[in-house]
Amino acid sequence: MESALTARDRVGVQDFVLLENHTSEVAFIENLRKRFKENLIYTYIGSVLVSVNPYKDLEIYTKQHMERYRGVNFYEVSPHIYAVSDNAYRSMRSEKRDQCILISGESGAGKTEASKKVLQYYAVTCPASEHVQTVKDRLLQSNPVLEAFGNAKTLRNDNSSRFGKYMDVQFDFKGAPVGGHILNYLLEKSRVVHQSHGERNFHIFYQLIEGAEDELLRRLGLERMAQQYQYLVKGSCPKVSSINDRSDWKVVRKALSVIGFSDDEVEVHVHTHTHIYRHTHKGSYIERNSVLKMHTNTQRCSDSSILVGWLSLLGVDFSVLKEALTHKKITAKGEELMSPLNQEQASSARDALSKAIYGRTFTWLVNKINTSLAFKDKFNSKNASVIGLLDIYGFEVFQNNSFEQFCINYCNEKLQQLFIELTLKSEQEEYEAEGITWEPVQYFNNKIICDLVEEKFKGIISILDEECLRPGDASDITFLVKLEDTVGGHAHFVTHKLADGKTRKVMGREEFRLLHYAGEVNYNVNGFLDKNNDLLFRNLKEVMCSSENRILTQCFSREELTDKKLPETTATQFKNSLAKLMEILMSKDPSYVRCIKPNDAKQAGRFEEVLVRHQVKYLGLMENLRVRRAGFAYRRRYEVFLQRYKSLCPDTWPSWDGRLVDGVSTLVKHLGYKPEEYKLGRTKIFIRFPKTLFATEEALEERKHSLATKLQASWKGYNQKTKYRKLRWVLGFMFRHHPRCPENEYFLDYVRYTFLMKLHRALPKTVLDKSWPTPPPALTEASELLRKLCMQNLVWKYCKTISPEWKHQLEQKVVASEVFKDKKDNYPQSVPKLFVGTRLDGDDINPKVLQALGTEKMKYAVPVTKYDRKGFKARARQLLLTASSAIIVEEAKLKQRIDYSALKGVSVSSLSDGLFVLHVTCEDNKQKGDAVLQSDHVIETLTKVAICADKINNININQSSIKFTLGQGKEGIIDFTSGSELLVAKAKNGHLSVTAPRLNSR
Ligand SMILES: Nc1ncnc2c1ncn2[C@@H]1O[C@H](COP(=O)(O)OP(=O)(O)O)[C@@H](O)[C@H]1O
Ligand SMILES: [Mg+2]
Repeated sequence: MESALTARDRVGVQDFVLLENHTSEVAFIENLRKRFKENLIYTYIGSVLVSVNPYKDLEIYTKQHMERYRGVNFYEVSPHIYAVSDNAYRSMRSEKRDQCILISGESGAGKTEASKKVLQYYAVTCPASEHVQTVKDRLLQSNPVLEAFGNAKTLRNDNSSRFGKYMDVQFDFKGAPVGGHILNYLLEKSRVVHQSHGERNFHIFYQLIEGAEDELLRRLGLERMAQQYQYLVKGSCPKVSSINDRSDWKVVRKALSVIGFSDDEVEVHVHTHTHIYRHTHKGSYIERNSVLKMHTNTQRCSDSSILVGWLSLLGVDFSVLKEALTHKKITAKGEELMSPLNQEQASSARDALSKAIYGRTFTWLVNKINTSLAFKDKFNSKNASVIGLLDIYGFEVFQNNSFEQFCINYCNEKLQQLFIELTLKSEQEEYEAEGITWEPVQYFNNKIICDLVEEKFKGIISILDEECLRPGDASDITFLVKLEDTVGGHAHFVTHKLADGKTRKVMGREEFRLLHYAGEVNYNVNGFLDKNNDLLFRNLKEVMCSSENRILTQCFSREELTDKKLPETTATQFKNSLAKLMEILMSKDPSYVRCIKPNDAKQAGRFEEVLVRHQVKYLGLMENLRVRRAGFAYRRRYEVFLQRYKSLCPDTWPSWDGRLVDGVSTLVKHLGYKPEEYKLGRTKIFIRFPKTLFATEEALEERKHSLATKLQASWKGYNQKTKYRKLRWVLGFMFRHHPRCPENEYFLDYVRYTFLMKLHRALPKTVLDKSWPTPPPALTEASELLRKLCMQNLVWKYCKTISPEWKHQLEQKVVASEVFKDKKDNYPQSVPKLFVGTRLDGDDINPKVLQALGTEKMKYAVPVTKYDRKGFKARARQLLLTASSAIIVEEAKLKQRIDYSALKGVSVSSLSDGLFVLHVTCEDNKQKGDAVLQSDHVIETLTKVAICADKINNININQSSIKFTLGQGKEGIIDFTSGSELLVAKAKNGHLSVTAPRLNSR
């Protein structure tokens, strides 16, 4: 509905509760008219659907339309019969409550079409299984069959239903339709024998003679000419342009098969139903016989073939039937006598029999369909939920109104009563549920009229029954007099005699007038008694009970003959069946469809105001609206309301985290709602006047509009901007190496952005991964910083995972790297080799040495070669490192102890040799001078020395020679050269000459 509000100026309101002037009938009709002109035939009054017959096919019943309404909130989409169907279905599923859809409206207003649309909706949208498919088919196919036998062309409607229909559709727990059941009400049997000018008998008669194959007609003894049969031409219009009897026959024939009639059954059934032809075949036995009797002519029936066909059909004995149709059995002084009938009496006996047969076989047909639709799964039938569909004759007013109209209008009076009770009740219940005070609503309660018709002893039906049953000369007129005597003072009852002068002018003397809720109707009492008695002479009944026709034996039971109890009159039967119907409907949650016909000419696009006003009045739509509007025009669940309007208040936009009711309260206060304009219930907000809601809706529209304007503006700008962007791009490229300036800023930003995104995707994953995308010039520095950061991060992450041993190893390697990397030729070879804790353990060192060390802890020991200071003789020694000194050991002797404090530095060559010199301070006379040593693990050994002695910065790497002190101020020199192999020897110049192989090219 909310979406509808926006379009309200163009096509009125989609819900009458939003009509500002809700008491104005003019405004109401104008709204209907406006919408009708736009082919918007549906409008709501709250949850009631008002439908105006378009008399043309609208493209609003496609499968896509069905899908649109499926599972969607009633108010989210425009009004539609599918919305009502879906809503009922969902309520049934979610609330586990049986539903009913009550369709009302006058003849031709579209009730039957609406009920078919509902069925089709369920057939298409509900889940299905294989079994369900046949049920769906049968449900759908029951319509053409019932219409063929129960519908007829009337002045009002070419396909007027002449019976009331209530159909239950049963759904299983999965929501699939699994069965159905039909109740039929008061078939207009009089149509079988009489039709007003311009009307027809039931469709099936015409369908059969137009559509049946020759062979079938021959077997039935029928001719293709409708004119041959009096019962079919009383209204002088056996052919109707809008009806194709021939193709309809095919449809009906097929539908009968779907429902489960065997071919044989179809034939018998159609025979039985249409036996009536025979009665009235011009020249048939009965007609002539009756006439002849009148003239005491004894001419015999000439057309014996017709007679034979008829009798074989009814399955009764010829002479017995003849006797029964022309005589009446009377009982006088305890004796049974056969009294002959005059022509009129004989005709009426014939008509009574025809009506009885048609009426009873129609009921038989409904039962047969019910058997076919029955939900077979007894076990689960208790779990089935039900949606009932009521398509019943609407309020009817003709020039001459008879017993049928009296029954029909009484039925509508009852439905209106139910409608009032249920709508008021549900309205009141909703207020209670929401904790809102109920204010009494003024409305006309038509119970007074229902009572006038149906009250025991005092009501019109009781009086009619009394006249029908009492001995003596009861007649339609005595009935009228009795009415005057009994209910003459009733406010809703008038007769010619009781009326004032003005009313008298428009009333016949044989009429009584009822002031129905929907309007005044004059009923002519002629025929009331007969129609109410609906008598079939006992002898005719007897004949029918003896019939051998399979269907008739089921329709006329022998028990009827022996039953001494008087059969119920038609009106009483009808009254009782209506009471049952009300009970059924009361037990379900109702939805309403109120149908209106826009003109009497069945024309598309014509909206006759007078006619529509009349229907609006007698459908009680204005009252319906008044009840609905009595308290609050609009109500909506908090979440729905908040969702729609939250953007109108800064506190609720974009979301409200608190209680829904507080959110709604904040919102409406912000919108300036006055306290009397709304109430907050338990789950819903109630808004009293439509204008309040319209204002809110307008505010929403405005907001949407301003948003749209903004969007539009930026869209317009967008097009110009695309051109500008291209230019900017070219400029940016040209100026890319310039410092940031307006010409290149977009380009640079873009390039930066792309680089950063690329980097983001390609960051190195491990410390050893040295890959890094090349940065654009503008980002070189940042890239470098980022790279370091990244590496630090990786290292940090890596460090967190390493063991203490490994950490120690790495620390030494870092020192080695700092000291030797790129400086000494054999450094790279040392990198992959792990440094060991010591090269000599306890067993390799003389115990005396260990003893001499005492508590001094040895940190590293390695075999070395010592070159004598004089002569440079090579001697095998051990170098031990403790916490405080480096010690040179020969076997068991500590040959030289160099305190780290006395260690000036360490010299080593840049080549691949293992020679090194430990320089010591000379002031100390005890010192023997610098030590010239060689280690096979020189990198490792010197790294240990550097760490133990804390001399990392005192390791000198020399290119070609090392000077060292021999003691007492004398110097020695070691010369280094590259060669093919390692050679250490005293040179002629007295220097120590070392040749080392080149391992790594620099
Ligand atoms: N929704 C509709 N769309 C198109 N035509 C419709 C619609 N409803 C009714 N009609 C037309 O009006 C005719 C009478 O409708 P019907 O349902 O038989 O009336 P009712 O059952 O109320 O007497 C239909 O035969 C059809 O031609
Ligand atoms: Mg109908």
